[in-house]
Amino acid sequence: MANDRPRVLSGIQPTSGSFHLGNYLGAVRQWVALQETHDAFYMVVDLHALTLPQDPKALRDNTRLAAAQLLASGLDPERCTVFVQSHVPEHTQLSWLMECMTGFGEASRMTQFKDKSAKQGTDRTSVGLFTYPVLQVADILLYQANQVPVGEDQRQHIELTRNIAERFNGRYGNTFTVPEPYILRETAKIYDLQDPSAKMSKSASSPKGVVDLLDEPKASAKKIKSAVTDTGSEIVFDPENKPGISNLLTIHATLTNTGIPELEQKYAGKGYGALKTDLAEIVSEWAAPFRDRTRDFLDDPETLDSILAKGAEKARAVAAETLAQAYDRVGLLPSKH
Ligand code: TYM
Repeated sequence: MANDRPRVLSGIQPTSGSFHLGNYLGAVRQWVALQETHDAFYMVVDLHALTLPQDPKALRDNTRLAAAQLLASGLDPERCTVFVQSHVPEHTQLSWLMECMTGFGEASRMTQFKDKSAKQGTDRTSVGLFTYPVLQVADILLYQANQVPVGEDQRQHIELTRNIAERFNGRYGNTFTVPEPYILRETAKIYDLQDPSAKMSKSASSPKGVVDLLDEPKASAKKIKSAVTDTGSEIVFDPENKPGISNLLTIHATLTNTGIPELEQKYAGKGYGALKTDLAEIVSEWAAPFRDRTRDFLDDPETLDSILAKGAEKARAVAAETLAQAYDRVGLLPSKH
């Protein structure tokens, strides 16, 4: 793999089994494209999943399932590095240095933490959930990533990463690449089908608004057909006044590589029902081979595990070098054994 390519790194949690359309359109689709032009590292962030209680067997199964979905989406282990976060112990090691560089107030301002902890109450909120963005900082800096392809909800964590990298470089000398977020405006935020003011999310209050990629075709078609739409009947892209229809148009446009104006023309004079019916079919047709490929990877866990083992080895070579340099910079005495 050409090392003069700019580097990208990103991660996805294995928490909910199936990826949803927001994960795919907001992030994973870009990962697939970037493996052609970048030195790309993509991981299943199982350590991040532990910030909420997990059943051990389910976590293991979901970690393999997430890796299988990444490969089914088109990540090619010959073109990029796919690995599991906990297989590279340098993540937690660098995370400690990063925690010591992060202000308590700074971490307290992370909106994802504020939202999640407000939902579940401070007694049920772990310290891990609080330091979670700092582990993400370590994830990114370990690989000297130039860009981080994510959805809009991760922007603040990338901003934190930039701040901490600059702080560390300022204090100890140039050590880390300061990364840029890579967020596509069109798909930065895919909305819940039942509540187009909220992002599509695994923690949504109802599964009806979340299209899981591994849903049965009938189930996803039903969700799309019962998507909440807006007053009026015209199909135009107007996120402010027609958030529901605009969200459906975004999904349609991205999955079929069509421009939004072209779609507006196609549906001029037609009702919302026509768009929904077409989109239900497009999603089902897209998802069927994805589901088959995911199942194929899961049916052969040996191959899957060996892809992940090779990925971890490649990732570790990069991560270990960065960690050694960071340890040295802060003044930790090298071990002689
Ligand atoms: P996670 O697992 O919640 O989501 C994975 C990716 O999907 C994107 N995403 C969306 N994009 C558009 N619309 C939506 N409705 C939507 N929902 C989710 C997310 O922005 C994300 O890119 N903290 C991260 C994982 C992580 C990470 C990292 C990412 C850990 N370490 C290092 C980048 C670099 C997370 O929980 O993503």
